[in-house]
Amino acid sequence: MRVLITAGPTREYLDDVRFLSNASSGRMGYAIAEACLAAGHETVLISGPVNLEPPNGCELHKVETTTDLEEACTKLFPNCDGIIAAAAVCDYRPKERATGKLKKTGGTVVLEMVETTDVLKLLGTQKRQDQWILGFALEAQDARQNAVRKLKSKNCDFIVLNHTSAIGSDSNSVEVINADGDTETAIHGRKSEIAVELVNWLTNRLQKKT
Ligand code: CTP
Repeated sequence: MRVLITAGPTREYLDDVRFLSNASSGRMGYAIAEACLAAGHETVLISGPVNLEPPNGCELHKVETTTDLEEACTKLFPNCDGIIAAAAVCDYRPKERATGKLKKTGGTVVLEMVETTDVLKLLGTQKRQDQWILGFALEAQDARQNAVRKLKSKNCDFIVLNHTSAIGSDSNSVEVINADGDTETAIHGRKSEIAVELVNWLTNRLQKKT
């Protein structure tokens, strides 16, 4: 299989030196890339800015903004069998990006933000019959309900329900939910262990599907 993986945060710039982002370390996505390689899959990793070494043998594409991620995904997804979307994508960006460096005003500043492209939703509309999508859902409340809603709205085959405690942490506890809202597997442990179990589960599950 040729697997596309997104990992890490995106950044949205206010001016040439300041940006909004989130605390994603990229560890989950990188661990998944490593597990995919170990399982013998061709691995294409699209990564936001992180302090991690890419696993040996993967095809790495570095991105910074959500627009970069969108461009990379729409270019690379058609040549892959599926995508594991672990990136923590910024949902909003400043409406205007100033050139240079904004000066202090001496008063309060109000920032106008607009939604970024929902990259996974876009890929969901482009998905062919022979392709699959494994999304991630990071939820703080009504987790299960929101995860299933996300799976449907983004046309995912499966969604990994993840909790906000996972951000920046080395360990995690996840559930993989299918389009019927059923839990197919629940995995706990270090992110590296979760990644291996998740990739093994996915590989077997997709074999059953075909
Ligand atoms: N995602 C994406 N593009 C976005 C936002 C999210 O591709 N602009 C992807 C993420 O990589 C993840 C999935 O969509 O696989 C769900 O991301 P999440 O942050 O949990 O949810 P959102 O869709 O952003 O919704 P909300 O923040 O309202 O919960």
